[in-house]
Amino acid sequence: MSNNQQIAARDLSVLWHPCTQMKDHEWLPMIPIKRGEGVWLEDFDGNRYIDAVSSWWVNLFGHANPRINSALKSQVDQLEHVMLAGFSHEPAIQLAERLVEITPERLDRCFYVDNGSSAVEAALKMSYHSWKNQGHKGKHRFVTLSNSYHGETLGALAVGDVALYKETYEPLLMKVDTVTSPDCFGREPGESWESFSIRQFAEMETLLANKGNEISAVIVEPLVQCAGNMRMYHPIYLTLLREACDRYQVHLIADEIAVGFGRTGTMFACEQAKISPDFLCLSKGLTAGYLPLSVVMTSEQTYRTFYDDYENLTAFLHSHSYTGNPLGCAVALASLDIFRDDNVIANNQCLAKVMTEATAHLVDHPHVAEVRQHGMIVAIEMVKNKQTREPFPWQERRGLRVYQHALKKGALLRPLGNVTYLMPPYVISPEQIETLAQIATEGIDQATRS
Ligand SMILES: Cc1ncc(COP(=O)(O)O)c(C=O)c1O
Repeated sequence: MSNNQQIAARDLSVLWHPCTQMKDHEWLPMIPIKRGEGVWLEDFDGNRYIDAVSSWWVNLFGHANPRINSALKSQVDQLEHVMLAGFSHEPAIQLAERLVEITPERLDRCFYVDNGSSAVEAALKMSYHSWKNQGHKGKHRFVTLSNSYHGETLGALAVGDVALYKETYEPLLMKVDTVTSPDCFGREPGESWESFSIRQFAEMETLLANKGNEISAVIVEPLVQCAGNMRMYHPIYLTLLREACDRYQVHLIADEIAVGFGRTGTMFACEQAKISPDFLCLSKGLTAGYLPLSVVMTSEQTYRTFYDDYENLTAFLHSHSYTGNPLGCAVALASLDIFRDDNVIANNQCLAKVMTEATAHLVDHPHVAEVRQHGMIVAIEMVKNKQTREPFPWQERRGLRVYQHALKKGALLRPLGNVTYLMPPYVISPEQIETLAQIATEGIDQATRS
């Protein structure tokens, strides 16, 4: 048995992996990783893989980044953790100050949570609770977009719409209003992203006009529905949504857990629509892929709706044990230093251009319906029939074939159904992007044959 096989056998006897039908591992080898460096992951047999998906979209500046490692090492000798109720610490304060500074205007308060789904849960509760504290007791409904994803805990799952994750648990979930997504894959031939996104907004406008007094918040993933097969839309939808939320007195929750911190070409995706949400959820890239941490940013005005004498019971009594963990905050600060010092957003724009050019030829592939991109995210959608866009049956798992090919060629290209995508760490080189595009092309060729 190889080293990989030995470790995998131990793993399979005790672990239960996320988002996995474990029986697949009877034929699909699991890859135990020994070490990481930059864009590279190395397994126990010495094989190396470019982490083209930033390990579920968390990694920003490569694995084992020396600057982030060093910040983590100093923090661990100072303070590993302290509860955040009644106590505080320097990294939590500094990070909150920095986030207030760099996030869109009016987001002046930072509430710490400890993972993405929990940030979404906290934002939903805060929205409802804030209206309640202001005397609006009937505002208890949430609006979401079709094909959206906000996490796996029950509240987050309820406001999501990816059937694969949601359907089984439907009887357990709160009812929400689902509006058709502005996902531009559905636009007419020749129609621009902008005009399609404007057209799609009509349904949202009608719902808010009719039920605004019962609606607490609309929750969206700005610009890219990542887990929903990397479907994308135009910023105009967010601009229109912000205006309508103001008109009908409804909160806007922007879930930038996947797209925040430079993924779409700007530090936050909302910037492209020139809007500020009522609640901004951040996680994943917040700690550059090191540790679980998340925040909900909101306005001073919303914060004040909870601020009262204790006996009035208006406080937000929501907590998680690892809220504001100092190690997470320290690495997040180190990551923000890299953004500040290394001209990351401008460099990403150059890398994004390389990604465009390296994948452009795939538009002509007989089984590719679309190559779409927002900044550092490129998605390639495979279909059975290019003319009708009939998808390959999901049971054929074509995306998985691309993944298997990529592993043999030294890349981690975990697909979303029939969509192969590149969402690499920002330390990737132009040559490595070209290598990934070539591996993806070969994989798509093989996966769509027969
Ligand atoms: C947009 C979005 N929201 C929420 C989540 C959930 O985050 P976590 O996996 O940390 O719970 C994800 C995870 O992929 C996400 O993409």
